[in-house]
Amino acid sequence: MRAFIVAVIVGLGSLPRAIAWGAAGHEIVATIAQSYLDPQVLNTVCSILSSDPSVDQVRGDGAPCYLSTVATWADKIRFRARWSAQLHFINGAGDHPPDDCRYPGPDGWQGKERANVLDAVHNVSSILTDFAQGSSSSGAPELAQEALKFLIHFIGDMHQPLHLTGRDRGGNSDKVHWDNRVTNLHSVWDSALIAKAIRLTPRNYTRPVALPTLESSFRDAIYDPYIRRIIWEGFGSDQVSGRWGSEADSWLECPSPESAVAAQWAPQEVLAAPRKPRPRSGPPLTSDSDVICPYGWTAPIHKLNCDVVWPPELDNPETHGRAPRREYLELDTPKYTGRIEKEWIVEKLLAQGGVRLAGILNYIFAPQQ
Ligand SMILES: *[C@@H]1O[C@H](CO)[C@@H](O)[C@H](O)[C@H]1NC(C)=O
Ligand SMILES: *[C@@H]1O[C@H](CO)[C@@H](O)[C@H](O)[C@H]1NC(C)=O
Repeated sequence: MRAFIVAVIVGLGSLPRAIAWGAAGHEIVATIAQSYLDPQVLNTVCSILSSDPSVDQVRGDGAPCYLSTVATWADKIRFRARWSAQLHFINGAGDHPPDDCRYPGPDGWQGKERANVLDAVHNVSSILTDFAQGSSSSGAPELAQEALKFLIHFIGDMHQPLHLTGRDRGGNSDKVHWDNRVTNLHSVWDSALIAKAIRLTPRNYTRPVALPTLESSFRDAIYDPYIRRIIWEGFGSDQVSGRWGSEADSWLECPSPESAVAAQWAPQEVLAAPRKPRPRSGPPLTSDSDVICPYGWTAPIHKLNCDVVWPPELDNPETHGRAPRREYLELDTPKYTGRIEKEWIVEKLLAQGGVRLAGILNYIFAPQQ
């Protein structure tokens, strides 16, 4: 294990900082999801991934594999598989946070039909469903493995608010300062906020907590203590109520027209769901089902762009992204970052991503009754 830790540290050191940290968000979502998987579902998922060389296969009584090891695969191939690059985000036409939030507005969505993160989640989920049900046409193991790796990644992207807006390429073109260093708004949300939270995680989370399935989902990564904190303080326990209280019970619900069915589903049931026949999904973007609900889940996340993510000061002529370098807006401030930290906005997005990824996988791969 020691050699492995050293390898991870060396690996981080040799990568550009931003890429290494951007990975953390995706890996955290995958790790949280793994801890909520039904043990039989975890076995199935691991067997689908087993031929992938990057997947850690663990012997003994640890987890059979770690989903986090494939969580950034989709970013690594996006330049080779150019067709997949547009599947990481979605843009409402005319969306312009913070003053005009459209998800979508009267002009619908931007870009090619079906080539966006919401449709991609439907696409890969239905490939996995076909595979789980053994229908031979689209049931090839390699296709299922690819679909699974995409799903693990796209659920993470869906929970990063700037993947849901096209303004300035999701904030990529907006130069800002972070702790006096030049970066951009997108990168602050992909990595800087998470990196800071990891760094500031209290020391009492470096030791295991009394959550066995969480602990067995860890592979000695730098963000493990941060995940312990998110789960411990976010969800609480039998003794103490967590920050999210009973709100978290609704994270798997789908506020869509079809949600009449969803109302009958307690989230705990979906997290370890028995297979039930579901209505086939309709046309893209309106096809949220009660279990796989990318539009309904992301609508409030998109709204965060107008509420907190996009600093109105970026539109002041003196401070916007084309201002002279020394004038870039500093975002690691009590006013901007302080609020995000206080309200646990990033922690909630990571936890929601993890819980929803687990819900989808538990549903698709639930052992046949
Ligand atoms: C659906 O997912 C499969 C598996 O990853 C991929 O090969 C295919 O191109 C995807 N289709 C669309 C329309 O995104
Ligand atoms: C760690 O310390 C904080 C107070 O700083 C406390 O609220 C939390 O419950 C502690 N966590 C554990 C796992 O003991």
